[in-house]
Amino acid sequence: MSAAAVRVSPAWLELREPADAAARSAALAERLARHLGGAGRLVIHDLGGGSGAMGRWLAPRLPGPQHWVVHDRDADLLELAVAEPPAATADGAAITVEARRSDIARLAPRDLAGAGLVTASAPPPRRWPSSSGAWAPDRSSTACARSTAGRWRPRPRSAR
Ligand SMILES: C[S@@+](CC[C@H](N)C(=O)[O-])C[C@H]1O[C@@H](n2cnc3c(N)ncnc32)[C@H](O)[C@@H]1O
Repeated sequence: MSAAAVRVSPAWLELREPADAAARSAALAERLARHLGGAGRLVIHDLGGGSGAMGRWLAPRLPGPQHWVVHDRDADLLELAVAEPPAATADGAAITVEARRSDIARLAPRDLAGAGLVTASAPPPRRWPSSSGAWAPDRSSTACARSTAGRWRPRPRSAR
């Protein structure tokens, strides 16, 4: 079995979720909330989203109605992402979660059509979508990710 095909267990993700939550950047989330505020229903694609920990942490920090599309290749983890959705948005607006079984290394721009925000945390190294077009399919979208070194920042497409 290659390293890229090693399965991530639900128990391991559960164990690390509190530590990951403590390590995520609240300042980055606040900046995002300001940037996206009042934009209407936000469609968020979480790449390699596993059991949905990113949504449980970020959704309560963003205002307005949100639809999360969690991409992962592991069907069991995706089931958990849907079974344990984020508790709430920042202002009590509606929130929905959709699981999408996909190989994030092979996403095409159409797979992210309509996305207002693309997130990823602790993604598999060297397995990012190869096309930058896949990251930001329309002018209003924002890519937001955290590297393990915490170096990445929101990049509105208009600022590139
Ligand atoms: C370290 S876990 C992080 C999960 C989640 N983002 C979090 O922060 O808890 C990496 C995730 O990427 C998924 N993954 C790895 N390679 C993938 C690929 N090529 N396509 C889709 N998902 C992939 C794994 O199944 C796993 O759920």
